Amino acid sequence: MIILGIESSCDETAAAVVQNGTRILSSIISSQVDTHCRYGGVVPELASRMHTEAILPVVDEAVQKAGICLEDIDGVAATRGPGLIGALLVGFSFAKAFAWARQIPLAGVNHLEAHIYSLLLMEEPPAFPFIALVVSGGHTNIYHVTGPSAFDLMGQTRDDAAGEAFDKVSKMLDLGYPGGPIIEALAKTKDPGHINFPRTLLEKESFDFSFSGLKSSVARYLHDHKITSPEDKAQIASSFQAAVIDVLTCKLVHAAKVKGCSRIGISGGVAANQTFVAQLSMEASKHGIQVFAPPIDLCGDNAAMIAARGFTMIQEGRLCDLDHDVFSRTKF
Ligand code: KG4
Ligand code: ZN
Repeated sequence: MIILGIESSCDETAAAVVQNGTRILSSIISSQVDTHCRYGGVVPELASRMHTEAILPVVDEAVQKAGICLEDIDGVAATRGPGLIGALLVGFSFAKAFAWARQIPLAGVNHLEAHIYSLLLMEEPPAFPFIALVVSGGHTNIYHVTGPSAFDLMGQTRDDAAGEAFDKVSKMLDLGYPGGPIIEALAKTKDPGHINFPRTLLEKESFDFSFSGLKSSVARYLHDHKITSPEDKAQIASSFQAAVIDVLTCKLVHAAKVKGCSRIGISGGVAANQTFVAQLSMEASKHGIQVFAPPIDLCGDNAAMIAARGFTMIQEGRLCDLDHDVFSRTKF
């Protein structure tokens, strides 16, 4: 069964063709980051306009690269939420029209569940059950995943998402957007030891996160110290990143132990951080836990993960019709 996946929840217009939920025939991502970086973050109106311009060429390219024709497509999957409403509407409306015109099934995919599915697209995916962390610019969610459609949310951020903290600290340091890759590269040049930023772990048995205190702590540090040299910035980047990674690692290993899981999967933009992957893998291995992180092009927003999740939904008969709408916030 061949599924066309469409993603347009934020600042990437993406289309992919995936066979039987696991074999990626093509995956095209058109990023708007060069436009939004001028404003230090995503501008929703600009995002919708650019999705409208990109959607047809991106789908055309995905179909061509997959070496198929439109008649070969058996189902369509598009992100239904959470995300920016105006952005979501472009991809979801396109998918509705496509499915209606071809009279094929349509799945309205939860973007967060799709990030978990990026783990199932790996060459050697984690077996069920596993602990999954979806960590991006908008979310920091821990799930206990026990089956193809069984995602039990264990905890989430109470304020900023981890990726959002990377972006905000990068902005404070005048380093650019998106902050994650810039901070990771800079942090590699310095040992994190010198500045002790807080590790907010909240209540002992909670799997929730809070990154706003860390962000404020960096802001206070910048206020109290005159930071100008690239060396000083690298020091802050490294100490900040270490604080984020320590918290994520601690909660994930704890979650795996509490649930008796021997596998942890991470996905979303921040999962592209190799320092995080290395530290988590090292810590987890001490407890006999294996860590799974998808290749970088599957960590960030992409449509292959949407098609993979949509394939399961279509198989389960969980379909959308023309009356279904997009949603900005997730229901769980
Ligand atoms: O999943 P994603 O592409 O989009 C959504 O937010 O859904 O994630 C983007 C986020 C941004 O906040 C970006 O700064 C962060 O992921 N990010 C990283 C890295 N690469 C991207 N954070 C830390 N280290 C990275 N290497
Ligand atoms: Zn995402």
